[in-house]
This record gives sequence, C-alpha cells and structure tokens, in this order.
Amino acid sequence: MIDYRAADGLFHLQAANFSYVVQVLENKQLIHRYFGKKIRRFSPDHQIVYLDRSFSPSPISGNRTFSLDVLPLEYSSNGLGDFRTAAIEVRSEKGTALDLVYQTHRIFKGKPHLDGLPASHGTEEDVETLEIDLYDELTDVTVILSYSIFPEKNYLARSARIQAGKLPVQLERAYSFTLDLPHKDFEIHSLTGRYAYEKEWTRVPLTAGRYSIDSLRGASSHSRTPFLALADPHITEDSGEVYSAHLVYSGNFTAFAEQTALETTRWGMGLNDQAFSWRLVAGESFQTPEALLSYTDQGLTDMTHTSHVFLRDHICRGDFSHKERPILINNWEATYFDFTEEKIVELAQTAKDAGIELFVLDDGWFGKRNNDESSLGDWTVNYDKLPNGLEGLAKAVTDLGMEFGLWFEPEMISEDSDLYRAHPDWAIRTTGRPHIYSREQLVLDLSQTAVQDYIIESVSEILKSAKISYVKWDMNRNITNIPEGLANDQKYEFYHRYMLGLYRVLEELVTAFPDVLFESCSGGGGRNDVGLLYYMPQAWASDNTDAIGRLSIQDGTSLIYPTSSVGAHVSAVPNHQVGRITPLATRGHVAMLGGAFGYELDLTSLPQEELDEIAQQVETFKEIRQTVQFGTYYRLKRTDNTRAYNYVSQDGQQAVLTFVKTLAQPEAPLMQVKLKGLDPEALYTCPQLGASFYGDELMHVGLTMPHIQQDFVSVQYIFTKI
Ligand code: DGJ
Repeated sequence: MIDYRAADGLFHLQAANFSYVVQVLENKQLIHRYFGKKIRRFSPDHQIVYLDRSFSPSPISGNRTFSLDVLPLEYSSNGLGDFRTAAIEVRSEKGTALDLVYQTHRIFKGKPHLDGLPASHGTEEDVETLEIDLYDELTDVTVILSYSIFPEKNYLARSARIQAGKLPVQLERAYSFTLDLPHKDFEIHSLTGRYAYEKEWTRVPLTAGRYSIDSLRGASSHSRTPFLALADPHITEDSGEVYSAHLVYSGNFTAFAEQTALETTRWGMGLNDQAFSWRLVAGESFQTPEALLSYTDQGLTDMTHTSHVFLRDHICRGDFSHKERPILINNWEATYFDFTEEKIVELAQTAKDAGIELFVLDDGWFGKRNNDESSLGDWTVNYDKLPNGLEGLAKAVTDLGMEFGLWFEPEMISEDSDLYRAHPDWAIRTTGRPHIYSREQLVLDLSQTAVQDYIIESVSEILKSAKISYVKWDMNRNITNIPEGLANDQKYEFYHRYMLGLYRVLEELVTAFPDVLFESCSGGGGRNDVGLLYYMPQAWASDNTDAIGRLSIQDGTSLIYPTSSVGAHVSAVPNHQVGRITPLATRGHVAMLGGAFGYELDLTSLPQEELDEIAQQVETFKEIRQTVQFGTYYRLKRTDNTRAYNYVSQDGQQAVLTFVKTLAQPEAPLMQVKLKGLDPEALYTCPQLGASFYGDELMHVGLTMPHIQQDFVSVQYIFTKI
C-alpha cells in the first residue's frame, strides 16, 4: 500500500512487515524518514532536528542549520554540500552537481517493465508503484525515482531513470538506490570467494569509513555477489533486524555501506561507476538496473525465506519457476572432451536404468572442439564424434525415455575458429593492442547487434534441429581490453552495452523456446546473480563438486537464492578438484541438499552395488524433490566441522533433515540437532530411524546424531506427518 499525505509531503510505503517513508521538505528536497518494522502511520510531528554543524555547508545564506551534508537523502549528488557517497554524478557544461528537488509524482497499481533490463514483475494485485520526479533546473536534468512495493512479499524494488533536458550530459555515476539509515551499528553480510569457492558467507562489522564489494570483470563474478545486507550485530537465525538488497544485474556493480562522520549509515548499490559513463543527448534517458530491498526483524532465516519466495515468484519467469527440475546426468566430469556417440548413449542408458531423467551433453560436441583451445563460435555439430548428428543422438537419448540437454558457450569466440577467421572484429579488443587470453578464448562483442543476431540465430538453429529440452549456458572468462569506443568520452559505455546485448539475446531465446529449461553457468558460479535468474531459473553453483567443499558454497548460495535454482551434482572420487574421497552416501546427501540435483561422473565404470545405491538415491530424491526445491529451508547448525539443515514442504506434510560431519574426532561430543518449521502438535514418522516423534519433540528436544567414527559422514532423515 502507498499512502500519500499531500499536506506533509509524506509518502508511506507499507509492506506486511515493514514501512518505508520518504518526505518532500518545504524546500522540495526529498529525504528519507524511515525504513523498518511496519508502523500504522508516520506522524508529521516526527521532528527533523536541524543543527549548526561545523564544516557542513548550507545553500541558504544566514541559515547555518540547513545542510545537505547531514540530511537523510534519497538520491543526491556531491558538490552542493553532501560529502557522503553520492547516488549520481552528471557532467555537463554546467559542472557536475545536481540540485535535485521534487517536481511531481505518480502512484499506480502494477509495475512497468524496465526496458531491456531484467527486473521484478507482478500483477496489479501484487505490486503498487510510486514514481517521484526530481529536477535540477540548471542542467535541465530530471531523475525519476521508482519505488514498487510488493506488500505481501515484503520487497521494495527501487530504480532510477535519468533524463537529459535541453543540454547533452555525461552520466558518470547512476546508482540504483542510496538511502540513509539513522545509526551506524551494523554487521555487513556479503557473499565473497573465488573460482570453485563461490558464495562464502562473509560477516564484518561496519566501521568508520566505507565497506564496499565491487566487480570490474564484466560479470558479477565468482568472488563478489550483487547482494549486501546490513544486520544488527547481534543477529541470530531467528531474531534481529536485517536490511538486505539484491541488484538485478549481471555485470560490473558496486554495493556499499558508509558509516558517516555523524554516525549514520549511507547504503547503496548500482552500476560500478569506476568503469562506467553514459552520454545522453538532449531528451534521452538512461535506466539504471533495479535493486530489491527488504527488511525483517525476525533474523536471518526470515531474510532467506523472504528472498527465496520473492525471487521464485517475482524474478523467475515461465513454467519452470514453479516446476520440479529433472534429475540430470552431465557428461563433463565423466568424459571431458573425449567422447563418442556410443559412449554417450551407453552413459545415458546406465543413467536411465538408475532412474535419471535428463541427459546433458556438455562441452565438445561442435566444430573441432577436442580441447579448450578451439571452435567456440562454430555452433555446428562435430560429426567425427557424433556421426548421427545431434538429431540422431537426441533421438537415441529420448528413445530411452530421457530428456536431452545441451551445453553452449555462446558469448565466446576461439581464435582458432571459422567464426574468428570470418569476423575477427567480433572479438572484444582495443584496436592496436594484442589480445588478452583466458582459457585460450576471447569474448564476443555483444554490444554489436550483428553479434547478438548471430548468437540468436546459431543457438536457435541448433535448438530447432533436435529434441532439446535443456540448455546449459556457460561463460568461461571475464572481459578485458575493451574497445576504445566511438569517441573518447564514450569509452565506458561498453560494459553496460555488453550486458544490454546479452539481455536482448537471452530475452529472445527464452521467449522463442519457453519449454526449454535454461541453466546459467560461468565456470560454476561466476555469474550466479538475480539478473540471470530472470532468464534462467537454475544456475550451476560451482565447478567444485567435492561434497565437503560444496557445503559452504551451497550454504552461501542458498542464503539468498531459491534452492530450486542451485545446481548440485554427485561426482566421482577421488574428487577431480580436490582429490578427496568421500562416501557415495555423503555425496548424494549434499547434492540433494543443493536443490537442482544431478550426477556428473562415468556411471558406466561403477560397480553394480554403487549403481544400485545411485538408483536408491534417485528414488529418494523423487520422493523429496518438491520439498527440497520448493519447500522452506532452515539452517540448523553451521560449525567448522558440522552442518545441519532441514526443509519443510509447502503443505507441511514432509520434512527432510541433512546432517554432515567433516572430520572424525577423538572423544567426539554428541551432536544434538533441533529441527525447525514443524507443526508442534503433529506426529511425524521417520523410516530411517524407525521411529515417530511429535513436532515439538523434534524442534525442542531435537535428535542426537549418530556417533560414526569416520571422516565425511552424513545422515538424511525424511519425516512424514501422520
Ligand atoms: C565450465 C563449467 O562450469 C563446467 O561445468 C563445464 O561445462 C566446462 N565449463 C566445459 O568447458
């Protein structure tokens, strides 16, 4: 609900659990008044305290207490008194500052699309929008701030559109949002890491100065996620305040929190302005990506649940957002580039015998791709490996009663490819500089329409050529050596133009192939962000398939992303990334915990007893799939040596508990795990324990985990409500 009180210039945006209030002051500045637990109303009698602050300049001669430096502002520039991190910087013949004052506003049901960008969506029942126009007279620039509130889902989507008036201007910064919170006591939560170690949940206290996470890689990256939460330093899973924000974007970004001199906090997120600028000729406008803000006073579990539900319902699109995901077998770690049609069909047959539903043919099926040094861009079948083509292979697999899926890396080009020989200028490069290589490959210039069209056509042709119901969209390097641009002052438009090109390609393909399940990948989770979730409801979480390594990766990924999106596979031992040998049961339990479950190993080389165990795992996952992918997820224990989680199905009928202990210890203490989210009065049976317990027993007494003196052990208990 959006309540506007004209007499006081107050806008009160109300969700089920929080309120967000902004106010237009008499002098037309737009200030932030409140973001926090839901309140009935925000009285105009809440005072704004004006004080004479030394070194905080005032635009009004004779008034020493009015300064932009100390007001809580919604979207400000530097240069007129505010010395904190600005939301916007616009260069024109009139300097770089903007005096943004309220001009008009609109309130309406629903939410408009953001042109060319991924964004949250909803019906007129789901969401209501407030647009506030701020205007700077000298430069004739208008900033349209957009606030879309999803009351039932406890999310607020914010973005900004910057419109040039009579003068051409150069945008040097245009964040999606900033806002000022009235105190400084926060613990910052972010997801950091690196390749094969993605989404490490990182917690640091906010101290004097600025904390920021950024990417300049042309992708959100393995090491940074466009997400930042500001939590009460004493937050727990079940209590405490936390503000959180996602940026719906997959390229260079920044997310920051700044503890100011007067002990308030400025928080913001947007395109990384370190490599951004955008020229607007008179009358043109620029749309920032959207940020999704939420608040809860119910702790981290509630933050997670709110995010899972919102991203699933209002970011993911199409049938797959709520459809169970097929259990897959991927041949990458089974064969790498070295496969034949015969081998693939044998693998598919073995997988089918174990009950697996989808076969995914990974890298190496096209051009002359026998290693990672050639053929990216040549999306034509390699008949030496697949004599019956993709059509023949897809038929052989689907005749077995499985679905067939295919790997692509469409944004890339190998120097050794027909595409490069025909279009060397399609590879990103600064004219005159030598290429910079990564995995021996170059990135296609997706800012060019011809390149976008090529990708759309070549991928479409393959998808039409055979019965393909799944696509893994990979991206295995970051962008360097960017083109010099049309004019010097346009050099930094490139990164954002690349993303707009990519989003156009994805929009066309997912629209043209609505029945295909798309999974994004970038050497694992190198671009696992909300922007891509809009097009692809699933993401390969990491190239690290070791069950123990996966624990923290999946834990961090599921902190914010729906479990239906978290690709997780059982792989071979010794593990290919770390050499660790873990039991098949543990590998199964951890991959099932991930969400979008599958296998990635050579099943044909396994002994029958392991194949039988895999068939049993597959059967179990089919039983719990709905619960794991669409149920409610709880973190129960997270220590260096132990992890426990449980899921509860949406209908409350089933709960799944997974416990993993990494290393055996001498005189190991007994481990008690208490479940969450159960019906206290219901009786649950558990076949693995051969016992029944009431919900309150499981939640308050808990269960003692078995004492197994072995490394890398796990248990999985399935509870059914009687
Ligand atoms: C990186 C991906 O993360 C892997 O799963 C695999 O698809 C390889 N690329 C193939 O080159």
